[in-house]
Amino acid sequence: MLSLQLPTVINPKPSSSSSFLTNTNPFKPKTLKPNPSSPFTVRSVLQYNRKPQLSGDTPRVVVITSGKGGVGKTTTTANVGLSLARLGFSVVAIDADVGLRNLDLLLGLENRVNYTVVEVLNGDCRLDQALVRDKRWSNFELLCISKPRSKLPMGFGGKALVWVVDALKARQEGCPDFILIDCPAGIDAGFITAITPANEAVLVTTPDITSLRDADRVIGLLECDGIRDIKMMVNRVRTDMIKGEDMMSVLDVQEMLGLALLGMIPEDTEVIRSTNRGYPLVLNRPPTLAGLAFEQAAWRLVEQDSMKAVMVEEEPKKKRGFFSFFG
Ligand SMILES: Nc1ncnc2c1ncn2[C@@H]1O[C@H](COP(=O)(O)OP(=O)(O)O)[C@@H](O)[C@H]1O
Ligand SMILES: [Mg+2]
Repeated sequence: MLSLQLPTVINPKPSSSSSFLTNTNPFKPKTLKPNPSSPFTVRSVLQYNRKPQLSGDTPRVVVITSGKGGVGKTTTTANVGLSLARLGFSVVAIDADVGLRNLDLLLGLENRVNYTVVEVLNGDCRLDQALVRDKRWSNFELLCISKPRSKLPMGFGGKALVWVVDALKARQEGCPDFILIDCPAGIDAGFITAITPANEAVLVTTPDITSLRDADRVIGLLECDGIRDIKMMVNRVRTDMIKGEDMMSVLDVQEMLGLALLGMIPEDTEVIRSTNRGYPLVLNRPPTLAGLAFEQAAWRLVEQDSMKAVMVEEEPKKKRGFFSFFG
């Protein structure tokens, strides 16, 4: 039996204007009271001696998309993908961002990519030669569509990616549990190609109006393509700004998009540090808050679970009365 440590959900300090999150699954970690000195302090870690139950048929082909660029699709693919691998599932992450490929950099695998899908389709190499095994988790593999800075090859479209996914299913080593597709920004040919083989989607958004507008448009396009299982990930959340009413709360985002919430990732400078080191955040020990949030999102993805954002009223401050002088 796999024994793993799953950390608790650390809630941001509740305020009258902010929403915070509760877990809908009673078996998941319970929320903790925030530490008054620092709302982001990890206070304890719970032990979970179980592996999440994989729900749905394998392979689960999940596209990680957003519409807007720079909201955290690649970061989500790398961190959720490695979390799934650590839970014991076999994962293939496809970098479908053709012109601006960077998943290899985030994973620290850039020097190991010798072949891409383009060479496989040209008959220059086998599929297993294009699959790059992760240095740390051998059940995680990376597949890039093409060399960096190249354009989407002529004739490469959704059908070609469906062929790649079918070839992954038919591998001698066995079918992977998860195929994660890191989608390019925008809603043009690259986006259509990336979503074609998927049967579920994770929509990454930040709590700002431009990102939400693009996300709303993307939901419509995903539904048109027959992808009904769409969950959202709200990234770069800042509770201090939500409290000051300078940022939309997660509850507002959920109400605007009407999607099930897979996770909420706080703004964390460690994400940028880990990106630059090519060492995904979820591998950090001790874990950071954003790392824990990614790890828990991976659990929810496995179990087809979701979270619920709720509004928490701020407790009224106690008035100092006459009797308070007497303790
Ligand atoms: N939660 C976060 N906190 C801080 N920085 C983040 C967070 N998520 C992503 N970033 C940073 O935002 C930038 C864009 O992220 P990336 O995953 O490449 O976006 P996309 O793939 O959607 O274009 C990167 O520099 C990354 O380090
Ligand atoms: Mg990206």
